[in-house]
Amino acid sequence: MARLEGKTAFITGAASGIGRATAVLFANEGARVVAADISAAGAERTVEQIGANALAVALDVASEPQWEQAMLRATHQFGKLDIVCNIAGIGRGGSIEDVELADWNAMLAVNLTGTMLGCKHGVRTIKRTGGSGAIVNVSSVGGLVGIADIAGYCASKGGVTILSKSVALHCAQRGYPIRCVSVHPTYVDTEMLDPVAAALGSRSELLARMARQVPTGRVATPNDIARTILFAASDDAAMVNGSSLIADGAQLAGPPSTHFE
Ligand SMILES: NC(=O)c1ccc[n+]([C@@H]2O[C@H](COP(=O)([O-])OP(=O)(O)OC[C@H]3O[C@@H](n4cnc5c(N)ncnc54)[C@H](O)[C@@H]3O)[C@@H](O)[C@H]2O)c1
Repeated sequence: MARLEGKTAFITGAASGIGRATAVLFANEGARVVAADISAAGAERTVEQIGANALAVALDVASEPQWEQAMLRATHQFGKLDIVCNIAGIGRGGSIEDVELADWNAMLAVNLTGTMLGCKHGVRTIKRTGGSGAIVNVSSVGGLVGIADIAGYCASKGGVTILSKSVALHCAQRGYPIRCVSVHPTYVDTEMLDPVAAALGSRSELLARMARQVPTGRVATPNDIARTILFAASDDAAMVNGSSLIADGAQLAGPPSTHFE
């Protein structure tokens, strides 16, 4: 049986990369899918790829009025909500000495405030409509450890890690049938890497350099992460709550190998 049969899932960042892969995978697993993104055209393309039982919604995750509207559209279309995946995100570089305040503010607005609003309106809507399921927040390995040259990104993703635990406790303590889990990918081959690849002048060289930092020997695909999110959102993970699911090819398992001959 499909793992999300009878469920309705609201997925942000669904126009690209991990979000699009998750929307398509969830639909294949029987879910009705709301594909939300700041790119309305991109969300529409995802819905075209899915076919029936999917709705595209234009949403800037940093805007609370837009979340309220998006939740109303989703429940008007599908009746109830069970799952929210907060996947929309942006990445801007900068160490603590050179991070631009505008970049810092943008990352906190999209990555952290956007996820908080998705949790807030997701919990309220799942409760109101009698759904049951999970909120899955995409953080990063950079939400568990510091990375010197992306200080603001790590701060925003670290916030997502701890926010998720607070949401899980809130729902559990009140007896709501809603879990909350954060997912922590290593490098993933998506459009998010485009500016870095352009700066380096070669995408394959970038991917090769990144793969050398991942003990498993390759960067992740969007589908690798979508399958982790599917596990977190499905009843297979019924006792996985408030947890940080690390999909990092052992990148954080220990220090880089030091093998002295
Ligand atoms: N690619 C990686 O290496 C990597 C690694 C770890 C974590 N992540 C995280 O995974 C998530 C998905 O990233 P991706 O790699 O698929 O990137 P991506 O750039 O392919 O997709 C990000 C999506 O978010 C959307 N978006 C951006 N700002 C938005 C806003 N304000 N409101 C709504 N939608 C908005 C974009 O339009 C895009 O469709 C992000 O949260 C990212 O931080 C990515």
